[in-house]
Amino acid sequence: MEIVLSGIRPTGNLHLGNYFGALRNFIKMQYEYKCYFFIADLHSLTTHPKPDDFHGSIKNILAEYLAAGLDPEVATLFIQSHIPEVSEMYVLLNMFAYKGELERTVSFKEKARKHPDNVNAGLLTYPVLMATDILIHRANKVPVGKDQEQHLEYSRIIARRFNNMYGTSIFPEPEAFNFGSDLIKIPGLDGNGKMGKSENNGIFLIDDEKTICKKVMKAVTDSGPTKPDSHMPEMIQNLFTLMQVVSAPDTVQYFRDKYNSCEIRYGDLKKQLAEDICKLTLPIRERIIEILKDDDYLRRVANLGAEKARESALKTLREAKKCIGFKEF
Ligand code: TRP
Repeated sequence: MEIVLSGIRPTGNLHLGNYFGALRNFIKMQYEYKCYFFIADLHSLTTHPKPDDFHGSIKNILAEYLAAGLDPEVATLFIQSHIPEVSEMYVLLNMFAYKGELERTVSFKEKARKHPDNVNAGLLTYPVLMATDILIHRANKVPVGKDQEQHLEYSRIIARRFNNMYGTSIFPEPEAFNFGSDLIKIPGLDGNGKMGKSENNGIFLIDDEKTICKKVMKAVTDSGPTKPDSHMPEMIQNLFTLMQVVSAPDTVQYFRDKYNSCEIRYGDLKKQLAEDICKLTLPIRERIIEILKDDDYLRRVANLGAEKARESALKTLREAKKCIGFKEF
């Protein structure tokens, strides 16, 4: 069976972009593939998170994943740092990563340019840690966004190099999992770009009704069409894109018709949009809050995930060490 794996850094809460971009697909995929979903807390250390916030941010994502519908009994849901085998494998795989190629990685160059005061070695070898995450479970399919494609390519390079060096085939070369038409890019509410955690243009799964309404009502619009069937500017198209994923098809059609006949009132559209977003996210919000109160449950989930992930990781680590020449005394 194909093995699917994906990691997410614990920085900020999940927003509608995460939900429609990946999470909703993960929820379906967990029943169709052997899935590993994890929180990449080690990766997030490159930016030195505040110790007081660190644990909470990991807990939040775990609760949000569970509340949205990931089933820890079905998928393997774990915290990266709970798998010590990852750190050991990372040391081994670092020996197959060359400084020059790491320095040429786009994400490294970007981060080094943005934060010249914190160009640490962990940042440089970030792609090696990511390759470790993938290869240690011998995942074949990795759902990644555009920004992670180069990292995935690097995992293939490391896999190939290791396999060639030792004349083995223990590491399959992971491919991108393409959601195809299931992948919906969610725009931000500020009229440009996509919904992101840092851009402050997002609606979060944990937002309450008042916050959602306020954010939607504040979304940027223009003064409305003046000619029938006129071309829609991007910020209006964005509202329709959102509506398309949360509202009923006839609701979307109703507002499209209104737009095309120049009778649209953006206030009405936004009110409907906010209501339909709330219908989707408020039940998830309730569950997040419930789950976050239940430390026993979270501990059980984390332990179960660690147990399953460690079993798979240890198997690969043992084999890799054997290839390298480690022997028991
Ligand atoms: N680097 C990924 C990101 O920032 C997170 C991540 C870490 C990951 N390890 C992974 C994603 C392994 C897929 C597979 O989004």
